[in-house]
Amino acid sequence: MSSAGDVDYSVIGLGYSSHRRPDPRIAAMIHAALGDAKSVLNVGAGSGSYEPTDRAVIAVEPADTMRRQRPAHLAPAIDTRAESLPLADQSVDASMAIITVHQWQDMRAGLRELLRVTRGNIVLMTFAPGSASYFWLGDYCPELAAVEARRDPPIETLAAALAPAGRRVEIVPVPVPIDCTDGFSEAYYARPERLLDPNVTRAQSSWAFVDEAVRERFVTTLRADLASGEWDRKYGQYRSMPTFTGALRLIVSRPANSTARLTDQTSA
Ligand SMILES: C[S@@+](CC[C@H](N)C(=O)[O-])C[C@H]1O[C@@H](n2cnc3c(N)ncnc32)[C@H](O)[C@@H]1O
Repeated sequence: MSSAGDVDYSVIGLGYSSHRRPDPRIAAMIHAALGDAKSVLNVGAGSGSYEPTDRAVIAVEPADTMRRQRPAHLAPAIDTRAESLPLADQSVDASMAIITVHQWQDMRAGLRELLRVTRGNIVLMTFAPGSASYFWLGDYCPELAAVEARRDPPIETLAAALAPAGRRVEIVPVPVPIDCTDGFSEAYYARPERLLDPNVTRAQSSWAFVDEAVRERFVTTLRADLASGEWDRKYGQYRSMPTFTGALRLIVSRPANSTARLTDQTSA
């Protein structure tokens, strides 16, 4: 498949692995959420970001541009979609779906598949929709904020879908580090200059839904405000925030008999 989501990864997938490198602090949270699973399914695996290397992994990724960017030390990904996983019921210890559910054509079918094939923890990482949690970027490009508010599924909807048969769901905000290496838009909260680079925004799929004229207006306005000092006068406090807790969330669904909590593990 060349692409299976709501955007064309043969275009935006180019250069993804250069600008969307897994961030080690976020990786540690994801790996803790996977618990002691020995086998892990990674759905919407892309170029392999956040895939654990100390456990057996089955990766699923429909876009060939993304599969081709997987480094040699990771297993090749299966060319299929979340909605039709070629795996037996209850066949993996844990599964993960990282910054991908908002792209699935049938999100509920994909989540049902995760529940069908997974014995233990299911870990999603996604953005909570709504401009209330949006940062200064929304002032410069409300069109982008509107795309994300429409595209990202409500956290409560995801949590409810992952809580059948007594499964317990925990929702954990993910602090984004100031030097985050995974270049989603929030990652640049303290580095606005980086968003002037078209290669950076091309690796952020929401820009594919915004007219080129809007992106040009955004770049022109932001560049001028950075040059005049206006951005720093209004938003300069972001530059010294070591982390920013915005819209990024982990959703962890555990079997009914589990008493673990990620918040206990990460604050220990
Ligand atoms: C933003 S990338 C995230 C990739 C990787 N998980 C990461 O964290 O870097 C989203 C991925 O979801 C994949 N995707 C889109 N629709 C999908 C579907 N229906 N089933 C599985 N993956 C899908 C895309 O091809 C893309 O590689």
